[in-house]
Amino acid sequence: MTNEELIALAFEAREMAYAPYSNWKVGAALLCKDGRVIKGCNIENSGFSATVCAERTAFFKAVSEGICDFEKIAIVGGDAKRGSEGFCTPCGVCRQVMSEFCRPDEFKVICAKSTEEYHEYTLRQMLPECNYIMEQDDGYGFKAEQ
Ligand code: THU
Repeated sequence: MTNEELIALAFEAREMAYAPYSNWKVGAALLCKDGRVIKGCNIENSGFSATVCAERTAFFKAVSEGICDFEKIAIVGGDAKRGSEGFCTPCGVCRQVMSEFCRPDEFKVICAKSTEEYHEYTLRQMLPECNYIMEQDDGYGFKAEQ
């Protein structure tokens, strides 16, 4: 799957964003190693700490269905009312969740404004010196072993 195709799916996911408080709507499309794409959107809550980001929605959907091997994620988002959609980069908590399941030098994070305009990072760039549990063995992930 190309980056452009994955970004288009992230825009689709953004359609489902529930963001009545911030109006900042985010969509994510997570490409799994088996070729499946899991979509996620942010889901806000009047108790603000109960809000979940689009990226974590996608990861938790995948892991809860037994999918634990990931290749890349595309993220799109911005203010839905002003239409000022810049690059939406993942929050620290989402980067930490990614680091639980993804090899930092291999997993790619694509932050896109459009299907043509995007920045691509490795997870290592996004979260240097991360504590990566899968590096403790021979490449068979802690989660994948369960
Ligand atoms: N948000 C995401 O879903 N992903 C990001 O990468 C940044 C922030 C959400 C959380 C909240 O619903 C809204 O965007 C404003 O922060």
